[in-house]
Amino acid sequence: MMKKSIEDISIDGKIVLVRCDFNVPMDEQGNITDDRRIRSALPTIRYLQKHQAKIVLMSHLGRPKGNPDKKYSLEPVSKHLSLLLGSEVLFSEDDLVVSDKTKKNVKEMKKGEIVLLENMRFRKEETENDPDFSKELSSLGEIFVNDAFGSAHRAHASTAGIAEFLPSVSGYLIKKELDIIGSALENPERPFTAILGGAKVSDKIGVIRNLLNKVDTLIIGGGMAYTFLKAKGYEVGKSILEEDKIQLAKSLYDEAKAKNVKLLLPEDVVVAEEFKNETKFKCVQKDKIPSDLMGLDIGSQTIDMFREEILQSKTIIWNGPMGVFEMTNFAKGTEAIAKALAESTAVTIIGGGDSAAAVEQMGFADKMTHISTGGGASLEFLEGIELPGVAALDDKE
Ligand code: 3PG
Repeated sequence: MMKKSIEDISIDGKIVLVRCDFNVPMDEQGNITDDRRIRSALPTIRYLQKHQAKIVLMSHLGRPKGNPDKKYSLEPVSKHLSLLLGSEVLFSEDDLVVSDKTKKNVKEMKKGEIVLLENMRFRKEETENDPDFSKELSSLGEIFVNDAFGSAHRAHASTAGIAEFLPSVSGYLIKKELDIIGSALENPERPFTAILGGAKVSDKIGVIRNLLNKVDTLIIGGGMAYTFLKAKGYEVGKSILEEDKIQLAKSLYDEAKAKNVKLLLPEDVVVAEEFKNETKFKCVQKDKIPSDLMGLDIGSQTIDMFREEILQSKTIIWNGPMGVFEMTNFAKGTEAIAKALAESTAVTIIGGGDSAAAVEQMGFADKMTHISTGGGASLEFLEGIELPGVAALDDKE
C-alpha cells in the first residue's frame, strides 16, 4: 500500500512535527564529522518553509539511557542546520523534551520558523514507544511528517507511536529511499548484482535469503566470506569464522544454485599475522590460507573478478566492506569495489553505515545513484521487513 507523502496534504501555515534522523557522528569537541544525514533532510524542511509552516524538528542522537545527558544534546545539530539552511534554527533546550516551557514556545512560533527539540532519547518513554509520551509529543503540532529513514526500523514514540494521534505522511527523504531501493528490489534492470560484506554472516542471513529471490549475482566478501569458504571445505586459518553458521552457509550456497543465482566468493585473500595495520601480510589463494594467519581483505585476483562482474551489471546494491578498510593496508578491496561502482553506468545503491562511509571517505559519493542514510533500516528493508516508521503513516487512497 502506498503511503501519503508531504505533497498529499495541506500544510500551509500549520504546525508540522518532523521526525528526522540527525544521529550523526561527532568528534570529542562536538564537531559533526559527517553531515550527510542533515543535508538529506533539507528538501523537506525547505518545502515546509516555502509553505510557511511552523516547523518543529525531532530526532535522537546516540544512545543516552533514557535520561538527559549533555554529551548527546542536539544543540550542535541546530547550529549546523542553521548554517546549511541559511535561516535560524532555534534550539529548544529542555531536559524533559516537551515541558510546559517548550509547549508554550511552540504555540508562539511564527509562520516559517524552525525549532529543533532536544534529543528524544532523553526520555525513556521514547524507545519504550509509550503512548502517553507519543500523545504528549503530538499535542505540540497538527501534522506529523516522518523523514527519518535511518530510524524507520525503530518502533519508537517519535517514529511510529505519534502517528496514532495526528495525520501522518512521509517526507522527501523517506519517499526517495523507498522509491529508489524499492524499485531496485522489485523491478531492477538486469543483470542485478548485490555485493555483501562486513564481518558476520549472522547479521546478513535475512538479507541474503531475500536477495537470492531477486538478484542474478551475489558477491560475498569481507569477514563473512570465511564462513562460506569453510563451508566449501577450505581451511581459513585464524580468519573470523562463525562455526555455528557453516551449515547455514552451505545451505545458502545450495539455495543460490537452485535459484540459478551466481554466488561469487573470494578466489584469493590478503592474510596477516595480526589484527592491526602494522603487521606482515601477503596475498594467497583461497586454498592456501596458512593456519597461523588471518584474512583481512580480498586479493587482487578477486578484485579483478568482482570488478568485471560489477561492470557488466545494470543494477547494483552494495552493503558491507570487503576487508578491514579502517586499516589502510587492508582497505584496497573496499576501495577497488567503490571505484568500480563509481565507474559503472548501472544504478548503484549503497546501503549501510560502513560502505556509505567508505564511499564518502574515498570521494566517490557523487558518482553513486543513491547512498542510503539508513544503516540498520536499509538492511531491514533489503530483508523485506516492513519498517514500523513507514507502516504507521497514512495510506494513500
Ligand atoms: C542509526 O544510526 O542506524 C539510526 O540512527 C538508529 O540508531 P539506533 O541504532 O541507536 O536506534
